[in-house]
Amino acid sequence: MTDAGRPGTQTEGDFGKPLGGFDIRKTSLEPDDLDLGTGQTPVERFFVCNAGAAVRVDPDDWRLRIDGDAAESPRTLTLADLRSLPWVEVDAWLECAGNGRRLYEYVGGHPRPTSVLDTHWMTGAMGMARWGGVRLADVIALAAPSAALAWVSPAGLDVENEDEDIVRMCLPAEKALDPDTLLAFEMNGMPLAAAHGAPARLLVPGWIGAYSVKWVDRLELSGEWIPSFRADVYYRLRDPDGTDRGPATTHPVKSTLALGWPAAVPTGPTTLRGYARSGAAPITSVEWSVDEGPWSAADLHPLDGRWTWTPFSFAVDLPAGQHTVRTRATDATGATQPDTVPYHPNTMLWNAITPHPVVAA
Ligand code: MTE
Repeated sequence: MTDAGRPGTQTEGDFGKPLGGFDIRKTSLEPDDLDLGTGQTPVERFFVCNAGAAVRVDPDDWRLRIDGDAAESPRTLTLADLRSLPWVEVDAWLECAGNGRRLYEYVGGHPRPTSVLDTHWMTGAMGMARWGGVRLADVIALAAPSAALAWVSPAGLDVENEDEDIVRMCLPAEKALDPDTLLAFEMNGMPLAAAHGAPARLLVPGWIGAYSVKWVDRLELSGEWIPSFRADVYYRLRDPDGTDRGPATTHPVKSTLALGWPAAVPTGPTTLRGYARSGAAPITSVEWSVDEGPWSAADLHPLDGRWTWTPFSFAVDLPAGQHTVRTRATDATGATQPDTVPYHPNTMLWNAITPHPVVAA
């Protein structure tokens, strides 16, 4: 039925879509420029984060198993069973927890990560899409969850790390049952590409991308935490010394310029653009500053929907030479980007104010 992915393979077929316009990061793909559109990032520009090779699934053979100690009526469902549930669409940005990992080195001055598990992203591991599918809550309801349901563990058909652990996360029932959490079959109005989890994946908006499990073939429902390498070891909040602070969940408030690193821009009046987002609440402001000068308000171009990112723009007038441009987003909880972030042993969740190097010529 499947050709389960194995870490370390790097041919075009293994990624599940054409490689043009992407930098290859081990088994993952990062767009080679940050023009990611506004409302919908085209699939041919959308980042791919794969633990191994993309899994090729025959949709006719695919089944979703729902079981576990909190499933009173375990079920095995076909694609047709699932597609008969009410159809919903959610506009949401998706982003890897490790996006901006290289900034720990370039801006934070920390050593480059050496773990083979760390994908060396610059800032392109994010994209906006319209996700089409069914509510995960409606899918879970088919298995008659008991009152004990506290955790949902979606599992993919692929494996990761040298122990070949199954790729799976552990999602609190409250987020799994949120009406915007989907079992998605479509992206931007098209069936999912193999790269993005065809025929079905989770979409867990506002949370680190790892929860949006691709090629999902099992949902385990439980009253207890369901362990896995991803949920217990890798995608954790940690102090610089490695002390565990619990699972990583929502994205912190961030802003990213739609520019290369370093960026080349013309001298004179120019409009710079970027993307602001927060898993906690909508973006309320983005400020910008050139060469450590005063902060000014950027123009926001908000999109409809709770989980969309907020494109922003501002006009600069740069003399020839090297500059730094900084942006600072704030969300409706009042959270704003910090000046620095403490080191994270897996170098994830970078959201510090970032001096973006820009050369005007
Ligand atoms: N699901 C499976 N089965 N295998 C994976 O490697 N990677 C996760 C998530 N779902 C992954 C997965 C991570 S870390 C991210 S950031 C998102 O998928 C990326 O989704 P995309 O590749 O569609 O952009």
